[in-house]
Amino acid sequence: MNTTAGSIGGAAVTTKVAMKMEDTMQAFAVRAACFIGELDMPYSEEFDGHDFGATHVIAHVGDEPAGAVRVRWFRSFAMPERLAVLQRFRGHDIGRLLLEHCRAMAATRGCNLLHVQVLPSGTAYWEKQGWRRLEPAEADVAARRMVAMVKVVDPSKPLAEMEEADAVVLRREQQLDASGLPLGTVTN
Ligand SMILES: CC(C)(COP(=O)(O)OP(=O)(O)OC[C@H]1O[C@@H](n2cnc3c(N)ncnc32)[C@H](O)[C@@H]1OP(=O)(O)O)[C@@H](O)C(=O)NCCC(=O)NCCS
Repeated sequence: MNTTAGSIGGAAVTTKVAMKMEDTMQAFAVRAACFIGELDMPYSEEFDGHDFGATHVIAHVGDEPAGAVRVRWFRSFAMPERLAVLQRFRGHDIGRLLLEHCRAMAATRGCNLLHVQVLPSGTAYWEKQGWRRLEPAEADVAARRMVAMVKVVDPSKPLAEMEEADAVVLRREQQLDASGLPLGTVTN
């Protein structure tokens, strides 16, 4: 699915799923420039093993990579992550186009919910894009660095209030011991 949405300086703005290694490299280049170069985030937080199983969506302005996001798929929801638009291409709503591409893909895969985790300072952007906070219990708020936000895939089918996805998705991946079992499960 390739999507064309407007133009910047006469160059078409398009979004597409990365299908070739070169596309994926372009998505990684955009991510690295935004998060590592611009925002001073450590490499280890921005790239991980989930990149191999995720779907990468990339935005181009003409032939130039301009934005990227990756999506991870769960049974009933999808998780866009690492949304980034290069500074020189900002101000044209390319982030929204990338997220809309994710939403449309999720609809074709039977997902009914999109779920993101964002820094508290980033919530205003997502609220503007129609996402809402999944309110955790008050006691949890202070302890959390990230805020969980959700958006329904099909606005004509709003979901019932839900709390569980937050607890499930924000749970850290388990660390495994040398025998491959989750740490702490074997006591002797
Ligand atoms: C977030 C990001 C992808 C948006 O880029 P973009 O698509 O070019 O966004 P635009 O500049 O066109 O802004 C779109 C709208 O969001 C608003 N917006 C942008 N950044 C915002 C922010 N940090 N807080 C609140 N609103 C914001 C704009 O004012 C604009 O609103 P309008 O439509 O009412 O004019 C880009 O700023 C970026 O890559 N940031 C660094 C990485 C990051 O923070 N990623 C998100 C966290 S995972």
